[in-house]
Amino acid sequence: MKIAAALAFLPFLASSTLVAASPLVSYGQISISQVGDAEPRLIRYSEDSPPKWIKESDKESLIRAGIKFMDITDYTDEIVRVQNWKPFIPARTLYEDEVTPYIGNLSTETMEAFLTKFTSFRNRYYKSSWGGESCRWLLQQLENIAQGSDHVAVKEFQHPWEQFSIVARFEGTNEDLKDELVIVGAHLDSMNMYLPKYGRAPGADDDGSGTTSTVEAFRSLVNNGFRPERPVEFHWYSGEEGGLLGSQAVSRQYQQDGKRVVAMLQNDMTGYVGPSGNPVIGIVTDHVDDKLTDFIKVLVDSYAGIPYTLTKCGYACSDHASWRQIGFPSAFTIESSFEDSNHYIHTSGDTIDKLSFDHMKEFSKIAIGFAVELSHVRSD
Ligand code: BES
Ligand code: ZN
Repeated sequence: MKIAAALAFLPFLASSTLVAASPLVSYGQISISQVGDAEPRLIRYSEDSPPKWIKESDKESLIRAGIKFMDITDYTDEIVRVQNWKPFIPARTLYEDEVTPYIGNLSTETMEAFLTKFTSFRNRYYKSSWGGESCRWLLQQLENIAQGSDHVAVKEFQHPWEQFSIVARFEGTNEDLKDELVIVGAHLDSMNMYLPKYGRAPGADDDGSGTTSTVEAFRSLVNNGFRPERPVEFHWYSGEEGGLLGSQAVSRQYQQDGKRVVAMLQNDMTGYVGPSGNPVIGIVTDHVDDKLTDFIKVLVDSYAGIPYTLTKCGYACSDHASWRQIGFPSAFTIESSFEDSNHYIHTSGDTIDKLSFDHMKEFSKIAIGFAVELSHVRSD
């Protein structure tokens, strides 16, 4: 629905005044605290529209109406893009021999076992108890994978809400490059758009699939002794569905800490083949870095078993946008063209039976190619 059409149904959208919190609502004898839901939040519909204050509870109305927004409440200062940082992005692959064994070790059985459990939590909403449980379970899986590899560390990135983000880091062999990162990401949360906190949201595709593709790439790299020259990190973000919350927090923190991101690749929805039955890798071309996106095309040609198609979201639709906004190169691979993507997302119908693990595996291949090729320092 277009924003103008939604105004008729959602009057709060028309005003930009700060909404006062109403601390208590009385129902007969019972008083229910509403502080959380009445808290004002600052949102933005697009990069070129002005921010707007709305109530936390009104965010849910926006979600139900299908209106896209970033929640920028914690980032009200003017966006400062990183200065003097122009990493070299290659135009061809050079490390096929290194990449091949990692790809050969990918297993759809492992992926299926992982996603079956990951979708069994009622939902993975960032502010629900299941959201907390599911990310603690994911953390445990990643720690199990990394156990015994002393150059791989798995860490929680805490947020003011229950569900944390997760960072798994391969230390680089070149100490001088410890703040130059290559990042592969996905979002770990899921959401039922009609009842975000309590509704059933298996989130098999959105973004259980991207989480599965990235966990499997990580597993294969760890198990086969990957030692990058510069550090490589795998990220699983909390609160993407709440307006890119986790990735904004992580990216701003990295920027503040003086870290420099060479390249970031987001995997959001990698499991649905689409109505044509001809699997393709969608490469998103808006809200991304053009040079890095050109290199993703080369990676698909070199390492995937299926072709790519170029597509657009039309808005800042996932976590890659948080990195790009502050000036780091980011790219986004997705299951199909935007139009052919899974229409069951954000509902109880986003289930495993509609997905292909072979398809998810193609994205693990790209993620591995990305991690290996970009972890080498080169200037061609
Ligand atoms: N996975 C979606 C993005 C998406 C949707 C990609 C449809 C391709 C097809 C993502 O999790 C999401 O839901 N994003 C929000 C916007 C975000 C800023 C909260 C959306 O699309 O509504
Ligand atoms: Zn989503």
